[in-house]
Order: sequence, then structure tokens, then C-alpha cells
Amino acid sequence: MSKVITLNDFIIKNQADFEMATGEFSRLLGDISVASKIVSRDVRKAGLVDHILGAQGEVNVQGEDQQKLDVVADEQFIAAFKNGGEVCGIGSEENESFVAFEDETSKNASYVVLFDPLDGSSNIDVNVSIGTIFSIYKRVSPKGTKAVLEDFLQPGTAQIAAGYVLYGSSTMLVYSTGNGVNGFTLDPSIGEFCLSHPNMKMPEKGRLYAMNEGNIHICEPGIKKYIAYCQSSENDYGSPYSGRYIGSLVADFHRNMIKGGIYIYPNTENAPKGRLRLLYECNPLAFIAEQAGGLATTGRQRILEIKPTELHERASLFIGSKSMVEKAMSYLD
Ligand code: AHG
Ligand code: MN
Ligand code: MN
Repeated sequence: MSKVITLNDFIIKNQADFEMATGEFSRLLGDISVASKIVSRDVRKAGLVDHILGAQGEVNVQGEDQQKLDVVADEQFIAAFKNGGEVCGIGSEENESFVAFEDETSKNASYVVLFDPLDGSSNIDVNVSIGTIFSIYKRVSPKGTKAVLEDFLQPGTAQIAAGYVLYGSSTMLVYSTGNGVNGFTLDPSIGEFCLSHPNMKMPEKGRLYAMNEGNIHICEPGIKKYIAYCQSSENDYGSPYSGRYIGSLVADFHRNMIKGGIYIYPNTENAPKGRLRLLYECNPLAFIAEQAGGLATTGRQRILEIKPTELHERASLFIGSKSMVEKAMSYLD
């Protein structure tokens, strides 16, 4: 039997590779791991909360409000970051503005985190995979002060780590610190993330495409032509690709990481800048994709090079196997 490497073992081992490492960043990853386990536990109770313990928005038997799971997840991660003391502030999908932590320890911290606490939240009620996506930056404001907006509006190339947690048929945490991508599966019997997918590589090409094709008639013509290519027998495989669309970006992305494929969320007439959020959906997954040998663009520009101007900025996204993203881009003018 091979030795089990837990996420904690892995983090400590890799800390030794960083010169001058203080352990602050390792502790931050540890906080994310603990918060993920708590959210995973809560996700596994989702149906019970709705149908047995009372619906969301209702008062439960203890007289507490049942909260929506994405708010529960948001609060769980924020509490982990606030109590951890390695982060001076956070930006989250669930909060209109960034949150700057006020206590002295946090003001002296080196990092900021941007995250989507629950991605694919329309899938919660129907028992389909959902996830958490996160992105970590060094702050640009001086230590000892409160976090400012500029700490969060850094291009994706400045990320020092990014990752996601997938609450699927098992719970997985996948992350990169810019030195490859590693995946850990939660063993519920011991409550530990265990290294299950070392050095993940996205296949150079695949035959899966993911897009909300309900939007096909409100996209630019090049998208329609590319999807027709995917569906034709004249493509590089000589037979139609398979369409797969979960509607949880993190789950669609993870499948393509393993099997090879492309995910597209383009501009549409209804969403002229795309639907997905640059800072806590596109950038972290673009970082992971590139680290695994894949590609992530807006269709015309590398995602990681966009200079953000607002916290909840949107971007169109073409992400996945390198040759498939390149092919899709060749259809745009
Ligand atoms: P969230 O649940 O965090 O708001 O994100 C939903 C995102 C993404 O996960 C998914 O791929 C996409 O929105 C689905 O959008 P459509 O319903 O327009 O296909
Ligand atoms: Mn999302
Ligand atoms: Mn979300």
C-alpha cells in the first residue's frame, strides 16, 4: 500500500521549497482546507436543511434563520480568513464591496483572497455538483494598514496561488502555487484531504465541449460556427464531439481538466461582457488551466493579462485544452 500524503503534509513539505518562508502562506492554505471541510459537511446536509429541518429563509426549531448555502459558505470562509490572521481583506461574490479586516493582526497580514464561496448555486437544490473557487494575491498596500481596493484589482498574472474545491461525488481540493497543479480528495472517514491527483495535466485536446447552447442565437456568429465545427464529422476527430454542460463552472472545468475539453461562456446580447466574474471565477481557473498546460482567454485576450477595474467585473471565457481553445479563437474575427 502506498503512503497517504495529506494536504497538511504536502503544504509543509512545499513550504521548505520557499526561501525565507515564514509559514504565513502555509497557514492560509490550512485555513482554506478547514473551511472547505466545514462547507463540504454543510453541502452534504443540503436536502435535509430544505426538506426536513425547514426551508431556507424559514426559522428553524432552534429559532434561527435557515440561510442559503451560498451565504453560509461565504460566512464560513470569511470567518476562517478573519480568524487566521494571514489575510488583510477579502473580496467575495456575495459581498458588494471588499471587506478589510480591522484587527491589528490582519492589518499586518501579507495576503488578500478573492473567492466565489459557492459556484453553481442553481445546482444546490437539485443535488448536482457545486464548488468554491479562490484566488490569493500579495497585497500592494503597506502592511499595518487596512486593505484597499487596489489590493484586489491586480491582474491574474500576479496571483501567487489559486484553486477550487469541488463538492461532487467526492469532495476534492485542487490548487496551484505556480509550480504545477495538485488535487486532493477528502477522505471523510479520517477528515483529511489526501493527495490523489499529483501533478495534474490537462489533455492537449479532447472531444467534450461545454456551453449553454440556449444562448447560441444571441452570440456573435463565430461562436455558432465553432459549435457547428464541434458537432460536425469534419472536425479533427472525424465525428461529433460530445456536449456536456453542468452549469457549475467549477465542475465543468474539473471534468475538462481530467478528460480534456473546452468550456465557453462568451459575450451574449444579454451579457455583453460575458456572465462570469473575472476576479473570482475566470482568473483562478485560468491560473490552474495554464499551470496544467491548458489555456484561458476571452476569445481574443489572455485572461490573466486583463487589468481589472472593478471587483465584480465580468469577462467572457474560453478555457480548457490548449488546442481546442486555440481552434475556438480562430473562429472569431
Ligand atoms: P454562481 O452560482 O456562483 O452565480 O455561478 C454560476 C455561473 C457558473 O458556475 C455557471 O457555469 C454559469 O454561471 C451558468 O450560467 P447559465 O445559467 O447562464 O448557463
Ligand atoms: Mn460562480
Ligand atoms: Mn457563487
